[in-house]
Amino acid sequence: MLKVTKAVFPVAGLGTRFLPATKASPKEMLPIVDKPLIQYAVEEAIAAGITEMIFVTGRSKRAIEDHFDKSYEIEAELEARNKQKLLDLVRSIKPANVDCFYVRQAEALGLGHAVLCAEKLVGDSPFAVILADDLLHSSKPVMSQLVDTFNHYHSSVIGVETIAREDSRSYGVVDGREWEDNVIKLSGIVEKPAPDNAPSNLGVVGRYVLMPTIFKHIRALKPGAGGELQLTDAVQSLLTEEQVLAYRYFGTRFDCGSKLGYLKATVEFALRHPEVKEEFEAYLHAYMRAHTQGNTQENPESLETQYTAEAA
Ligand code: G1P
Repeated sequence: MLKVTKAVFPVAGLGTRFLPATKASPKEMLPIVDKPLIQYAVEEAIAAGITEMIFVTGRSKRAIEDHFDKSYEIEAELEARNKQKLLDLVRSIKPANVDCFYVRQAEALGLGHAVLCAEKLVGDSPFAVILADDLLHSSKPVMSQLVDTFNHYHSSVIGVETIAREDSRSYGVVDGREWEDNVIKLSGIVEKPAPDNAPSNLGVVGRYVLMPTIFKHIRALKPGAGGELQLTDAVQSLLTEEQVLAYRYFGTRFDCGSKLGYLKATVEFALRHPEVKEEFEAYLHAYMRAHTQGNTQENPESLETQYTAEAA
């Protein structure tokens, strides 16, 4: 049976929406509480049984390579100070059975082009694509849901969710008919259509399991939406030759490519984080109380005082 053991992470994007934070450091290294976005993405791949991580990087993305590499300095320091817990945490970032590979995308020519850069490393096997900007939270990691679907149907699977029609310009949108619960047989897919031209209200999220036959279709691409080589257009071409499925995952998505989505993720993950959840929740309550009582003084100190008084 074809097994999904490889994942491609396109991480060459400039992250202009997060300037100035992303001027010198990759947007994928932005933390949600204490863990960078790219690590959440890699952990999701590991949970799905994937062991080969292929990063399609660009200039000024070295921090990603360093993050998944051994840090002698930090490890030596933590060892010397007997900080075993932190040492285990740092060492667990890249489990021993996981390998990381890096390939450069010299020019930002689009998601299709980024995936094509990984072709030689992927070879002739089905593979996952994970966009770290889309942070997905679920009781069963979303890539595992996709891999299970792939294992069942042996065809490419694309993660989708219900979107508001007026948001169609931000997504690839699929056309097709519901085949089984949450599984849609694709008859078409279009990148960032205007709401009036959107074939459905099912938008593509940044999770794919693709057959290697996709590469042939990417190579034949002409620039599409935004003048870029779009993975969506290659999928449209692929489905003229073989079956492609969309899978409506269960879970919550945070669009961490936008400031608002990033902030929502920060709040939600902080409320689950064992170290800070209680105090953070208390803080949020105090904040909401202060504001709903019409106490809208813009003096953060007063809130801090109120909160500290309540916590005491
Ligand atoms: C990419 C894809 C799009 C998909 C989206 C999900 O767009 O091209 O089809 O819906 O990711 O996040 P981007 O957000 O990179 O413009």
